Amino acid sequence: SSQCSTYSYEEYKETADWLLAHTEQRPKLAIICGSGLGGLGELLVDRTVFKYKDIPRFPTSSVPGHAGQLVFGKLQGRECVCMQGRFHFYEGYNIHTVTYPVRVFSLLGVETLIVTNAAGGLNDCYDVGDIMLIKDHINMPGFAGQNPLCGPNDDRFGVRFPCMSDAYDRELCALAKQTAGEQGCDSFLQEGVYCMVAGPTYETVAECRALQMLGADAVGMSTVPEVVVARHCGLRVLGLSLITNKVVTRYDSTDKANHEEVLKTTERRTHDLQRLVSHLVTKI
Ligand code: 6GU
Repeated sequence: SSQCSTYSYEEYKETADWLLAHTEQRPKLAIICGSGLGGLGELLVDRTVFKYKDIPRFPTSSVPGHAGQLVFGKLQGRECVCMQGRFHFYEGYNIHTVTYPVRVFSLLGVETLIVTNAAGGLNDCYDVGDIMLIKDHINMPGFAGQNPLCGPNDDRFGVRFPCMSDAYDRELCALAKQTAGEQGCDSFLQEGVYCMVAGPTYETVAECRALQMLGADAVGMSTVPEVVVARHCGLRVLGLSLITNKVVTRYDSTDKANHEEVLKTTERRTHDLQRLVSHLVTKI
C-alpha cells in the first residue's frame, strides 16, 4: 500500500542466498550493534566482511560512527553474524527497510538475536554508564502506525497477529545477569523497560515525564522494530541498553540532552559491554 512499501519474500531470499553463497559460515546467532557500539564486531575472528553496499538488495547507511558492514566470524569461538551499524527510522528509512536485515538473518538460519543501543535514562535510580537488560518495550512509533508488520502478512515468516508479551527471552536475560556477575558488571547492571521514539529530536520535559508515567525506564530511537520482526519470525531476543545520559525532567534544569554526552559515555563503557556480550555468547 502507499504507507507500507513492503518487500517480498523473494527479495529477502535473494539477499540471504547471496550471503550463503559467499560465506561458508552458518551462524545461529546475530548481533545488531548500536551507535558507537560496533567495536564488538572487531572482536570477531576468522572473519568474512561484507559492506552493506556490496550485498544485493541490502539497505546502505551513511551515518558517522556506523561502519555499515556485516561481519561473519567467531566471537569467543561462537559463530556469529554482526551488524556494524543499523538503520534508523529517523534517517528517513521506511520502517520495513529498518528491519530488512532481521528477516535475512532468519533465512540464514539464525535463531537468536542480540541487540544493543544507547539510551537515555528515565528511571531516577539509573546512573549514566549503567547497562540495562531490556525486559520489555513500548513501541511508540507502533502506536502511531509505524509498526514494521503493517502491510500484507507473509505466513512464511510468521502469523498475522504475533504475541509480544514474551518478546525478550527470560532464559537469555537470566544468562546475561549471571554473566554480568561473573564479569564484574553487577554494580551497574539494571533491568527495565525500553521505550522507542522516532527521533531525531530528544524529548521535551513533558515528554520525559509522560514516558516515566507510562512505565518506561529508558528511551531511545532504535531496536524495537527489529525486535518486533525478530519475534514475528520466531527468533529469541536479548536486548541491552547502555544508559548514556539522564533525561531532563525539570524545567529549572540547565542540563541538555546532547549527542556528545551519548558518545562520551559509549566510549567509556563500550569495553564492558563488549566483554559482557562476548562471554554471554559462549553460553547461548
Ligand atoms: Cl535522552 N532520548 C532518546 N530518544 N534517545 C537517546 C537518548 C535520549 N539518549 C541516548 N539516546
